[in-house]
Amino acid sequence: MKVDVLLGLQWGDEGKGKVVDVLTPRYDVVARFQGGPNAGHTLEFEGQKYVLRSIPSGIFQGNKINIIGNGVVLDPALFKAEAEALEASGHPLKERLHISKKAHLILPTHRILDAAYEAAKGDSKVGTTGKGIGPTYTDKVSRNGLRVGDILCDFEKKYAAAKARHEQILKSLNYDYDITELERQWMEGIEYLRKFHLVDSEHEINNLLKEGKSVLCEGAQGTMLDIDFGSYPYVTSSNTICAGACTGLGLGPNKIGEVYGIMKAYCTRVGSGPFPTELFDETGKRISDLGHEYGAVTGRERRCGWIDLVALRYSIMINGVTKLILMKSDVLDDFDVVKACVGYKVGNEVIDYFPFDITEGIEPVYVELPGWKTDMTGMTSEDEFPEEFNAYISFLEEQLETPIKIVSVGPDREQTIERYTE
Ligand code: GDP
Ligand code: IMO
Ligand code: MG
Repeated sequence: MKVDVLLGLQWGDEGKGKVVDVLTPRYDVVARFQGGPNAGHTLEFEGQKYVLRSIPSGIFQGNKINIIGNGVVLDPALFKAEAEALEASGHPLKERLHISKKAHLILPTHRILDAAYEAAKGDSKVGTTGKGIGPTYTDKVSRNGLRVGDILCDFEKKYAAAKARHEQILKSLNYDYDITELERQWMEGIEYLRKFHLVDSEHEINNLLKEGKSVLCEGAQGTMLDIDFGSYPYVTSSNTICAGACTGLGLGPNKIGEVYGIMKAYCTRVGSGPFPTELFDETGKRISDLGHEYGAVTGRERRCGWIDLVALRYSIMINGVTKLILMKSDVLDDFDVVKACVGYKVGNEVIDYFPFDITEGIEPVYVELPGWKTDMTGMTSEDEFPEEFNAYISFLEEQLETPIKIVSVGPDREQTIERYTE
């Protein structure tokens, strides 16, 4: 068996959580492969809304195995809060959630370092989620990290050494902080974590595949936030792309099957960094209001703009996307005209590829398409799509050279239309 991968093609918040939940009944296993509690994946069903941060979005659909892979960074305190809230709402986790011993731990001092580094950057700050993601991955790469498996042996000593090292750095940055409450909650989180299945997830997942079980890998963030291919340095600290599923779960590249790329019918971004199609006018505000574009984790307002097909073509190439999923087109249901960026004007030249630097001097070249002016939120089949919407879909497929398999017309699980055409 092969694994299918579902990941974001823009700057995150494309709707990954919703679609993973919708697709889960077709799989035996759902696995997260990178990122951590910087993610906020929203699911809505039966009138309830849930936001998942570290726990895979397959947790609500029957008795599936959900894996937190080695590529993920885990904050035990935030994990405990998330898991306890789920259990309290009637969703038991302990038997179905497996956590890789090789996943790295976010320490309380990593969170403080995240804030200290951001403060030191001043105006050029990344606008991180403040969850300690960058410092934790930095320690992983510099071979100073603590892993989930470390809590099983000689943990106090390892923790004290890591904390002392971080305290030295914070001292050199002259950064004031109080760790007491953070550390108390974190230690409680460590004890809580011991109650879970801590596994060698690379063996587990490969054995499951050998047994013929099907696996869906759930990405976090989006391709434009990837550490290698995103809008560096305004990115997150992990590989959010499809290759991240190989390193973040211990899968050979020949194990990758379908690659589902998710995109919104427009574009959003939280935090700092370039965004060529960003709108600063009434239209941007309208998209933001209609799309309720506020961060699921930080509550920050998301910046909004038109869909960027130049950036999407790049994302599709990097990930080897085989099928597209179009989200939130309902937000544009009442627009007279819908725009799509098909090229970038740089000086006197128009380019259709994603360049090294998108910070300055890029003017989007737009194609205007007629709006469909129809409330699509109650539709259940593609037969009901208005003519203009079908034309819009065909235009996107042609530009992106990839079929759109699923169209989402609202936040609820039920508001999802699978197309028969490929
Ligand atoms: P993720 O991080 O990729 O899982 O996405 P988020 O959960 O951060 O953000 C997506 C937001 O859009 C959430 O509030 C979802 O409930 C909502 N959403 C998802 N799909 C749709 C859709 O098709 N239409 C509308 N209007 N909202 C959607
Ligand atoms: P999901 O999985 C949107 C952004 C932050 C910041 C940058 C670096 O919900 O799509 P970090 O805390 O990772 O060091 O922040 O990345 N960012 C996200 N933006 N959705 C996310 O996750 C994000 N995770 C991180 O806003 O600009
Ligand atoms: Mg999100």
